[in-house]
Amino acid sequence: MNAVRDKWNRRYEARSHAPPATPAFVTHIAPSLKPGTVLDVAAGDGAASLALARLGFVVTAIDISEVGLSRLEDFAARERLTIQTRCCDLEQPDRLDGLGPFDNILVCRYKPEPALWPALAAMLVHGGLLAFSTFNLQQHELHGFPARFCLQPGELKAIDPSLERLRCQSVSRAGDYFDDYLFRRR
Ligand SMILES: C[S@@+](CC[C@H](N)C(=O)[O-])C[C@H]1O[C@@H](n2cnc3c(N)ncnc32)[C@H](O)[C@@H]1O
Repeated sequence: MNAVRDKWNRRYEARSHAPPATPAFVTHIAPSLKPGTVLDVAAGDGAASLALARLGFVVTAIDISEVGLSRLEDFAARERLTIQTRCCDLEQPDRLDGLGPFDNILVCRYKPEPALWPALAAMLVHGGLLAFSTFNLQQHELHGFPARFCLQPGELKAIDPSLERLRCQSVSRAGDYFDDYLFRRR
């Protein structure tokens, strides 16, 4: 039994049959990605994966929630998109076994534990891109979103020596507060 999996399964079960809206960050960052493969980390029910597959990227989606991934697979089938999925707990050591390498990795609205960054970096091809956006502390201060899920100021300064930071900005979108990053594997 896994409380995180149960929580997210319940959330996805409660959703409507409509596909999720594309996150603004994904629309913003997609033109900067390398053509080819993308690993969508904590993909949920496919908000980013579906958008990227529509653009021609070869997408692999991983998440702890089998209900979320099952929704993603149904939405993809409706549009005749092919997206590989894998149900895994990103806090387990074997989480990424057998995956990759990827041209791009996307992490959207999920804050990985620190140990995951080097593992993700190692899955990128040289010159591959890691695009990351999640809530910052303003989301906690202004909306009461749990602080443990928010990026602290400067938290990603020492993310991994193999990753060069290309862009970083704090943005507000539709009343929510995010930090966006783009890294390139050296
Ligand atoms: C806020 S949702 C974001 C989903 C998607 N990236 C998006 O932007 O719509 C967070 C996702 O993280 C997943 N998640 C939470 N903890 C996880 C873990 N330990 N391993 C894998 N996925 C996890 C949840 O199942 C959920 O789908």
